[in-house]
Amino acid sequence: MSIKLPKNQKKVLEAASSTKQKTFDQISSATKLKPEYVSGASYSLEERGLISITTDSHDELLLTDEGHHYSKNSLPEMRLYEAVQRLGDLETEFDLSQAFDQSNLDKNEINVALSNFVRKNYGTIDQGKIVASRDIDIQLDPEQAALDSISQNLKVEDSITKRLESRGLVKVNQSTVRSIILTKEGMAVLQKGVKVSQSVTNLTPQMLSKGNWEHIEYTAYNVEAETAPYIGGRVHILRDTAEKVKDTLVSMGFQEMEGPHADSEFWINDCLFMPQDHPARTHWDQFALSVPPAQNLPSDLIKKVQKAHIDGVGPDGDGYHSPWSENVALGVDLRGHTTSLSMRYLSGQSIGTIEPPQRFFSVEKVYRNDTLDPTHLLEFFQIEGWVMAENLSVRDLMGTFTEFYRRFGITNLKFKPHYNPYTEPSFEIFGEHPRTGALIEIGNSGLFREEVLHPLGVSCDVMAWGLALERLLMLMYGFEDIRDVHGTLCDLQLLRSTEVPY
Ligand code: PHE
Repeated sequence: MSIKLPKNQKKVLEAASSTKQKTFDQISSATKLKPEYVSGASYSLEERGLISITTDSHDELLLTDEGHHYSKNSLPEMRLYEAVQRLGDLETEFDLSQAFDQSNLDKNEINVALSNFVRKNYGTIDQGKIVASRDIDIQLDPEQAALDSISQNLKVEDSITKRLESRGLVKVNQSTVRSIILTKEGMAVLQKGVKVSQSVTNLTPQMLSKGNWEHIEYTAYNVEAETAPYIGGRVHILRDTAEKVKDTLVSMGFQEMEGPHADSEFWINDCLFMPQDHPARTHWDQFALSVPPAQNLPSDLIKKVQKAHIDGVGPDGDGYHSPWSENVALGVDLRGHTTSLSMRYLSGQSIGTIEPPQRFFSVEKVYRNDTLDPTHLLEFFQIEGWVMAENLSVRDLMGTFTEFYRRFGITNLKFKPHYNPYTEPSFEIFGEHPRTGALIEIGNSGLFREEVLHPLGVSCDVMAWGLALERLLMLMYGFEDIRDVHGTLCDLQLLRSTEVPY
């Protein structure tokens, strides 16, 4: 007796062979079914015992764009060697700059050439001079040969592959190929002939209105069948983590602050008792904007802040004894920290006078004129926060951090005494990098000094902090370079596949 199978299963079964493995792709082109349908049908057929599926996973070597480029144009270190050869004899000193001119290498290639020339004993480079060695035949360069082999799908020694991988010239792709072959049962079924079962996969409005839906046979979905990976848009892990930080702080009783990215130095620095000649207030550190000075600042607060800077606060207080100019305070900068928001809120300027106890936070961008490196960007997200209450101590701060970071699975915090012009005591918070074990700074904190609180009209304690969101991410996901998640060098695989747990 012939059996009935759903249409796609029948097509796949008939395209399968009893003697030869056929890949899903081959079956897909033979049946004109999309690969995901071939996959779904194949797993159902396997469950019925009519075919068997074999899975073959192997690593496939691919050249990156840079690898392709060098495969065509030779490695930069070889081109540098050849350039020196064109300048004259081997074992002779030439100016490095002359060699660069001769080589036609671009800036990036020059860096690549420099580090590999010496590593491969192509010669020496010292104090702006380069010598090409006589003892080497660069035409035999194993890395160049390997690039050529990989471009032709030929085998390459493991150690060389590793080196090319670390140079970013080769990447390893895990590829999985599935194939099917008929079982004895499958052959027997085919011989008897297969009919298409009338089972349907989708319930339609017509079936509902006709009322025949009750008597129809439905195809079961095979939810375990492999499908092609779906790469759609998703929320960036930085944004996703920022949202989770906000949820966490809200659940800990905090309210969110908001305020301008470009703000007066008054809110950014002066309220924080940062002397106007503080090094962090120069263009080396902060981005000044050429816009008209800030307006509508509270004039009585300006006077109080000025007095704190000049005379200090309280009978034993002391000021900086250096000039304080309102013009400087009214200059507009991109904020270097979101502590400017804390000042606006504590002063009553943002939402009116507030009574203790209070807890506020923000997770917002800040801008600093730093040098780009694996842990620094010119802008980053700061997790700002403060608690206003009676009798706060460093223990309360430590406890808050311990609880906050615990919610993200980070439990080994370290604290180190620190100095801020606006807090006393102050300490920095460190966390252990999950991969390298290095301690990395993740935040800065302290209790605001009288010189900050008094002019703002706050008479109880305020503990406060600024934590770096990107550093929290590094601890959570273990990447080492901030540029893995930001900008043109970012690691798409990491962004596509990372879950954000908390
Ligand atoms: N503004 C500090 C920074 O950017 C963080 C901080 C905020 C420290 C509040 C103490 C109190 O590093």
